[in-house]
Amino acid sequence: MSTTDPDPSPAAPSSVLRARRSGALRGSCHVPGDKSISHRALLFGALCDGPVEVRGLGEGGDNMSTARALQALGVDIHIAGAQARVQGVGFAGLRAAAAALDCGNSGTTMRIMTGLLAGRPFETTLVGDASLTRRPMRRVAEPLRRMGARIEGRVDPARPGDVFPPLRVQGGALRGAHCDLPVASAQVKSALVLAGLQAEGRTEIREPSLTRDHTERMLRFLGAPIAVDPTSRTVTVDPVGWGGRLHAAPLTVPGDLSSATFLLVAALTIPGSDITLENVGLNPTRTGALDVLAAMGASLTVEQTGDAMGEPVGRVRARASRLTGARVDGLLAVRSIDEVPALAVAAALAEGRTELADLAELRVKESDRIAALARELGRAGVTVLERPDGLVIDGLGGRSPRGGRVVPEHDHRIAMAGAILGLSGDDETLIPADDVATSFPTFADTLRALGAALESG
Ligand code: S3P
Repeated sequence: MSTTDPDPSPAAPSSVLRARRSGALRGSCHVPGDKSISHRALLFGALCDGPVEVRGLGEGGDNMSTARALQALGVDIHIAGAQARVQGVGFAGLRAAAAALDCGNSGTTMRIMTGLLAGRPFETTLVGDASLTRRPMRRVAEPLRRMGARIEGRVDPARPGDVFPPLRVQGGALRGAHCDLPVASAQVKSALVLAGLQAEGRTEIREPSLTRDHTERMLRFLGAPIAVDPTSRTVTVDPVGWGGRLHAAPLTVPGDLSSATFLLVAALTIPGSDITLENVGLNPTRTGALDVLAAMGASLTVEQTGDAMGEPVGRVRARASRLTGARVDGLLAVRSIDEVPALAVAAALAEGRTELADLAELRVKESDRIAALARELGRAGVTVLERPDGLVIDGLGGRSPRGGRVVPEHDHRIAMAGAILGLSGDDETLIPADDVATSFPTFADTLRALGAALESG
């Protein structure tokens, strides 16, 4: 079978987006496939017992990192736009890679792969870009080691007690374990589920708060022996008596609510706007941002239209609204963790104060997002207080944000946040275009089609 190279054609390194005050956004559109669900469709598709068709695949750089890593492990994957054909080989069909697996910018690729490879009888080295190389990996290595895995990472004297990429995973026999996770992380939970499916005996994974549950939903859809107790936030994997195979089935990925949130915030903050986004994933572990925006006074209409692989899907309409400050903390913070950059822009343009708390995890995302948002909002003239676990933002309340040059440090969500803030500014805002492609390569085209003043070049 032919295998295309899923590497997206790289944009010119100097390409830039120029945002300035925009007229109303209007119309209806689709957003690209959900990044988290696309990773899982590729990974779990590869573990199925036959060919798997994936529809609506996210085409961003992170998902392509997962596709390339699987190809390096001997999986035949053919990608054409948002369609993919993954030749499932089962756990046993994976082969040692000839070289280190390059996970690029994608923490999800590295962490979930680590759990998968911990149970395979060969050694793998996982590497990433400069941003991923700084991200903490003890959270995944430690519980896997308790299941018998042999994982080594780079030690950084400046951050004792943790390990960092590159990771060396010497796979082998695993035993089930009870894992009480100290950090709420869907990536770690997913890694342990994949290790648990390969282990001898039962594995229980208890998380401190409920994180996104795409892994549980998709693996159950494919016939894996997984039970979920939402009250105790425990996932149980019990492979005893299971044939060890996931049953191939077509996988349809919903649109990415994280990408959608940037468009929604743009529409809510640009006077006269009225947009509708179709086929957006509405998994309740991910919809915190919609709740936050509603609490800020947003005119949002959310309508569930269907279901894809156990994932609710629907239509979201946003109309320009007078936003006021809000407080985000606790479970709401976990349910909107990836949307905080977009929410921070809504807060910056709102009237009054917004407090974002319980978000210390943002310090170890693709960048230190708390510091990055404080810096970028500050550059735009917004009064921001940086706290260890969040931000206090005093909204401009009708005043124009200053333009300038956004420095996202290769963090896609900081780049997109800078762009949508720039759409309300009198002066021009410049954003490096390449950084956006990690999750939303069609970001600028989509916004332009809705009428945004966002030029490329
Ligand atoms: C993801 C989980 C989240 C999220 C990340 C994607 C996933 O991180 O922030 O962008 O696909 O599992 P955690 O593992 O910290 O929950």
